[in-house]
Amino acid sequence: MTRKIIIDCDPGQDDAVALFLAFASDGELDLLGITAVGGNVPLELTQRNARMMCDIANRKETPVHAGCATPTVRPLRTAEMIHGRTGINGIDVFEPETPLQEQHAVDFIIRTLLDADDASITLVPTGPLTNIGTAIDREPAILGKVEQIVLMGGAMREGGNRTPSAEFNILVDPDAADIVFRCGRPIVQMGLDVTHQVLSTRERIERIKALDNPVADATAGMLSFFARYDTEKYTSKGAPLHDPCTLAWLIEPGLFAGKDCNVAIETQSDLTLGHTAVDFWHVTDRPINVHWIHSVDADGFYELLTARLARFGGSD
Ligand code: RIB
Ligand code: CA
Repeated sequence: MTRKIIIDCDPGQDDAVALFLAFASDGELDLLGITAVGGNVPLELTQRNARMMCDIANRKETPVHAGCATPTVRPLRTAEMIHGRTGINGIDVFEPETPLQEQHAVDFIIRTLLDADDASITLVPTGPLTNIGTAIDREPAILGKVEQIVLMGGAMREGGNRTPSAEFNILVDPDAADIVFRCGRPIVQMGLDVTHQVLSTRERIERIKALDNPVADATAGMLSFFARYDTEKYTSKGAPLHDPCTLAWLIEPGLFAGKDCNVAIETQSDLTLGHTAVDFWHVTDRPINVHWIHSVDADGFYELLTARLARFGGSD
C-alpha cells in the first residue's frame, strides 16, 4: 500500500534531492503534488526550481503549486549565501516544461485534504511552514485527513544554523511553525541533530556521480556546490543532506531512531526566536506532539539514496 504524500518545499539543493528520492520511490510513495514556499530563495525561484526537478526526473505530469511568498507575519529571510543566487547553484538553470498549476498551494492542500479519506495523507514539509500553517489556520477541518506530518526543521543539541538558537526553516516562520506543532496531528521531526549526521562527503558524491544518469549528475553537481559552505563553517567533511531525511524515513524508517517528546516553538523572544524547545527528558507536563529523530545509519541512508538515484538510469 503506497503512502499518499504532499511535499511542501523551498528548493534548495537538499529539497531537490528529496524530490528526486520521492520520484524514485513509486513503490512506497504516491506523490499527489508539490507545493513551493518562499524560503531558501524567493517563491518565484523555489517554484521554478521544483518544476526543473520534475523535468530532470522526467516527471512533468507532477502537479506543482506556488504558495506563500512571505511568512505569515514577518518578513522573509532567504539563504543565498548557502544555496547560491538561483537556490540550486551547481547546475545550469533552464525554463522548465513542467507547468505551474493555477491553484494556489494553500488551496491545493486544503482541497486535496478535504476530498481525502480520514488520516490518509502525509504532509512532508522541507522548508518554512508558512503554507502548512496557513492551510491549518484557514481550514482546521483538514487536520482529520492528515495521517502524519514528517518535517525537516528545528534543533536540540546542535543549536541553530541561522541564529545561535534557531534552525532556518523554523526561524523563517515561527508563527506558522507554532500552529503546526500545536495542531494535534502526529509529527515526525528531523532536526539538525540527525541531519548533521548525513554528510555529503566527496566519496559519497563521487559514488552518485558514477551512476551516470541525468538525475545523478544533477544531484552530484548540486551537492558539490552545497558542500562548500558547511565544510568551511563546521570544518566538516561535507554538507548535511537535511531534507531527504524526511523521505528516507518514509521509505526505510529502520535507518533512524527517535523518541516521543514535546517540542514547543519560541515565537516572542528576539534573542531566541524560532528556537525548538525539545523536552527530550520529559521535564515538563507539556503533551507529547513529536517523534523526535535523534540518530541515523548514515551509510545506510546514502546506500538507499544512491540505489534510488540509480533507478533513473534504468537499473534497480
Ligand atoms: O536548516 C536546513 C533547512 O533550511 C533545509 O530545509 C534547507 O533546505 C533550508 O530550507
Ligand atoms: Ca528546504
